[in-house]
Amino acid sequence: MNKPNGSIWTLAVDIGGSGVKVMILDEQGNPGGKRERVKTPQPPKPEAIIEAIVNLAKTQPDYQRVAVGFPGVVQQGITKTAVNLDADWIDFNLESTLSQRLGKPVKVANDADIQGFGAIKGQGLELVITLGTGFGSALFINGKLVPNLEMGHHPFRKGETYEEQLGRAALDKEGKKKWNNRLEKAIANLEHLFNYDALYIGGGEAKNIEFKLPDNAKIIPNVAGLLGGIALWNQ
Ligand code: BGC
Repeated sequence: MNKPNGSIWTLAVDIGGSGVKVMILDEQGNPGGKRERVKTPQPPKPEAIIEAIVNLAKTQPDYQRVAVGFPGVVQQGITKTAVNLDADWIDFNLESTLSQRLGKPVKVANDADIQGFGAIKGQGLELVITLGTGFGSALFINGKLVPNLEMGHHPFRKGETYEEQLGRAALDKEGKKKWNNRLEKAIANLEHLFNYDALYIGGGEAKNIEFKLPDNAKIIPNVAGLLGGIALWNQ
């Protein structure tokens, strides 16, 4: 994990509903230091989260550019939705604001898209879902992202969305057994809807899965949400 001189380092940032994480990556996307995490500031408004990122950045070795995963729709560096953060994020230019604060170029993308980049093989139809505070989703065709897939807020069952049935609030309220039953049903639904070659399941709550996954599905480590950040700079 020693930093050789002369390479370009990327500060990867993952903004979540419960934690904000950072780590630096080399040009191949390998970690160059220790992952650091702080609790998401409350209320989770833009200025407070940016402050947290600026402080976390100081814990890392030097870097030349930044890649950020954000828990909502992102278009041209502007955050368009933020269901699990704060309404102040709607139409906020995270890319330019953070770039000014850190004095480095910044690219921002949806957090589930970044998880996907950190996990997919780049062959066939690959679907990624993330189980954390919210329910994230990302779809890839031969390694190319289909942008802005927001399955979490679509109806799933009993008049509730995937996120309402499977987000952290539901897990806390209903318990692991019910949450697992729901997730098994959700995966069966998604398999029929997308007919994917592979399903990847990420996010901090994926560790609670207690049933046997189908052969074409696997759990990916949460660190993919940081490791995938390198893809933003490789495109
Ligand atoms: C957001 C998605 C995000 C997911 C996971 C959902 O509430 O709408 O954009 O990927 O949470 O953070």
